[in-house]
Parts: sequence; structure tokens; C-alpha cells
Amino acid sequence: MARSRGSYYSALKRITRVANSGFGLKKTCNSIAKSAARAMQANGCRILSLSSQKEYLITVGTYGLSDLYLKKGPLDARKSLPDILDGKVVYIADAATDDRVQHPQTALSQGISSILGVPVLGKGQAIGEIRIYTREPRQFSEADKSFLLSVADTCAVIFERAELHQLLQKDYRADERRRKASPASPVPTSTLRPTTFAHSSEEDFARLLDFYCIDWLYEPRSFPLRWEGDKLAEMFTPDFYLPELDLYVELTTLRQNLLTEKNRKLRQLRELHPEVNVRLLNKSDFIKLLAKYGYGPLGEAKVEGVDRVLYSHAQIQRRVRTLARRISDDYAGQRLMLIGILKGVVCFMADLMQHLSLPVTLDFMAISYYGRDDEVVEITRDLDTSITGQHVLMVEDIVDTGMTLNYILGHLSAHNPASLSVCTLLDKRARRLVNVPLGYVGFEIPDEFVVGYGLDYKGEYRNLPFIGILHPELIKGESPQ
Ligand code: IMP
Repeated sequence: MARSRGSYYSALKRITRVANSGFGLKKTCNSIAKSAARAMQANGCRILSLSSQKEYLITVGTYGLSDLYLKKGPLDARKSLPDILDGKVVYIADAATDDRVQHPQTALSQGISSILGVPVLGKGQAIGEIRIYTREPRQFSEADKSFLLSVADTCAVIFERAELHQLLQKDYRADERRRKASPASPVPTSTLRPTTFAHSSEEDFARLLDFYCIDWLYEPRSFPLRWEGDKLAEMFTPDFYLPELDLYVELTTLRQNLLTEKNRKLRQLRELHPEVNVRLLNKSDFIKLLAKYGYGPLGEAKVEGVDRVLYSHAQIQRRVRTLARRISDDYAGQRLMLIGILKGVVCFMADLMQHLSLPVTLDFMAISYYGRDDEVVEITRDLDTSITGQHVLMVEDIVDTGMTLNYILGHLSAHNPASLSVCTLLDKRARRLVNVPLGYVGFEIPDEFVVGYGLDYKGEYRNLPFIGILHPELIKGESPQ
């Protein structure tokens, strides 16, 4: 079925008018999705925005798709048609059998046959996507593709404008507080977030999560609770999903009748979907939850001997993902051997390697120090495998004076690796005595003794999920390591 240039031209005119209408993001994108789907004589359209950490695709506009299909959960950007985010136009002839489709069963149950997806590009980078769905199997023409790419160009302008608007509206006092509390911590980049919350307490909760740099998605998924025949009769949509904690959160209000209803739904949800991690939260529960993961005043006070949190779990995770992306890009097409020094590196190594999109092998060394000031380094466990001719990346928890790393690098280079580089999570540059080349650095930190996330003081604190500064009283009089 050929669509005429004329109908695409008038659809584009309509879309440009809507884009400049001054409506909110969602209304604008819904209207564009409708115009695009109708012009292409398709059954549905979805406009998606990429989250700030480039991990999730968030629906910002739809047309013609059922609630169930839309609320099947946040789309994992790396799994759901990743080629689109690489800037390509993707065509799926049969969504039910194509293994690039993340939820083929849902597509099948909704009668979706073909999908055409194009990237929304901002400054040459994918910042979102548009997907067109048809019930009948469909071949898309060049004219279809170039029409959708023009719609995507309009969406790019809308996304960037919405982001700018949100940045301008940002609560500066919250930013100030965050900067004062931790000058070294990065201000999180803005995401296209829903502008309207159902309740003001949800907005407060979202701000609190932002303050502690915890990623969140608002109402990303609905869970079916009851069916009448083949019709869905009841669903439950938790208020928030916190991807880093894999946790759904439903906020409670003080009204008892609502609470009872929520408790009933939650019970049902847990029975029907035991794999779903969901919590009903009131304010005090929420503070306790933050504490459990090392955030907030309770989180800091809870750990005896730790003065303050330097980097929260969420901040570390973000940085680790960024480092992994850079390493994956730099070593693309190669096999990489990761070498860690036990034991401080265990948390960092475990997280880093999971985010590398390369074939990797892994080995560990152990060392001990002796001499009056621990100035002599000895290898107590050497590598199991040969590194000759391999691309080697030394993964370190912290580089302090640089003496240890200098010694280990000397030892490794004697075995003629193809390349040898270093990735350290923490760099205490102020105390450097030996100049060691660092290829990748997570955070440059002040001259303080830090513990947690694998780092210890006298064998303790390694299990803290955050990096904290040890109370100076504890190490007073000791010579620093
Ligand atoms: P170097 O001074 O660079 O040789 O650092 C040697 C080792 O000292 C590191 O691998 C850590 O195990 C340890 N270290 C240095 N600074 C700290 C710290 O702040 N917390 C915990 N361990 C540290």
C-alpha cells in the first residue's frame, strides 16, 4: 500500500504545528505519534526517550497501543532493538519470531506483526526512538522511512527543548544543598521525567531520590491482578521502580481506607508475581530503606567509625558503568585480560566486568607488605595464566603513593603483554610518590583514609555498599599506608 508524498507532507506540516503548540511533552508526543501512525496507515506508534544513563527507554508518547503492551515494563536499551540506538533504521518483519524483540509474547498477544524503528538523534547521538507498529505484515518503503526520520528530527528538537525547560525549572536549592554536602559529587544529568505526579508526596519522593542520586522510573509497569474471561479487570501500578535496587515502591498516604486497599492489592501482587520485589513505604520506612543502602543521615550514622559517605552506591555504579563503556569502546574488537590485586578490588572488579561488552578473561594476584614502614612489596600469589601477547588491564581499587602499582606493572611488563593499561576506581593523587600511568580513573579523592566497596581498615568495612571516610580518630598516630 503506497502512501503519497502529499499525505506525508501534510502530516509533517501538522506535526510541526503541534511541536510548536506549547503543549507539555506528553501531550505533544501523543499527538505526534497519532499523526505519524495515521499518515503511515499503521496501527500504533510509540515515541521513546533514552534515560540519562542510557539504560532505559521511557515512553513519552503513544498511539494505538493497548495499556498492557505499553506497561510491560521499562525497555532495556541494550536489549530492546539496540541497533536503533546505534543510529540505524530497524525493520522487523515478524515481531513474534524475531529474536531482536524483547517481549515477543506480548507483541504476539497484541497482534503486532511488523515494526519499523528509527533513532531520534540529538547532536549526532541517539536520545530516543520512534517505533511504528502494524497488525498486517508490512514492507516499509524508502518514503515511509524518510517520513519517519523527519518526524524523529522534530522529536529531537522537542526532547532537547523539554530537557532545557526542566533544567531551568530545577530546584536550585536542592542542587545547592547537594553541592555543599559533597563538592566532588557529580550533579546528575537531567532525564525526561514525567512532569505530573498523581500526588505531591510522589514528587517529594522523586526529589529525595534525585538528591541521593538514586535512579528512578515513575509508574513504569502495571501488573495484571484479575481477569474476567480474557479481559483484564484489575491492575496494580506501583508508584516507582528503582532500577539499581531492582525494587518497586508504592507510597502510602495517611488515609486508612486507601491503605487497606493498597495492602490487598500488594498481597495479591506478591501471590501472583513472587519474583517482583515490591515495598509499601511510609516516610519512616523510606528513611530506613535509604539507610540500608548507605544513603542519608541514618546510612552514615549507622556505621561506627565512618565519618561520612564520600560516594554513594548509586554514584559508584554510575561511574563504573561509564568507565566500562569507555573501556569497551577503546578495546572494541579485542579480547581483554583483567588482572586484579586481592582483596580490595573485588567489588569494583565484579561490577566493572559485568558492564564490559567485550570478551574478557580474569586473573588475580595477591601481595603482602613488609619492612618497617611496609615499604617492601612481595607477590604472595602470582597469575594462573600467561599474559604474553595479551591486552592486559590492571584493575585497582585505589592508587595512593603508587608504589604497589609501580612494582606490579614492572613485574607484568617483563612478561611482554601486547598492551598494559591501568583502571583504578580511586586516585589519591595528592599522596603520589611514584608517577604511574593511569588509563582510567573513577574518582580523584582527597587525602583521607577511605573504606567500603572492597576497601578495608584492618580487614573490616569491605562489605559497605558505599565508600566512606574513616573517622580520623581511628587512624590517629598510625603511619598512613
Ligand atoms: P599505594 O600507596 O599506591 O602503593 O597503595 C597501596 C595500597 O594501600 C592500596 O592498594 C590499598 O590497598 C591501600 N590503601 C591506600 N589508601 C587506602 C585507603 O584510603 N583506604 C584503604 N586502603 C588504602
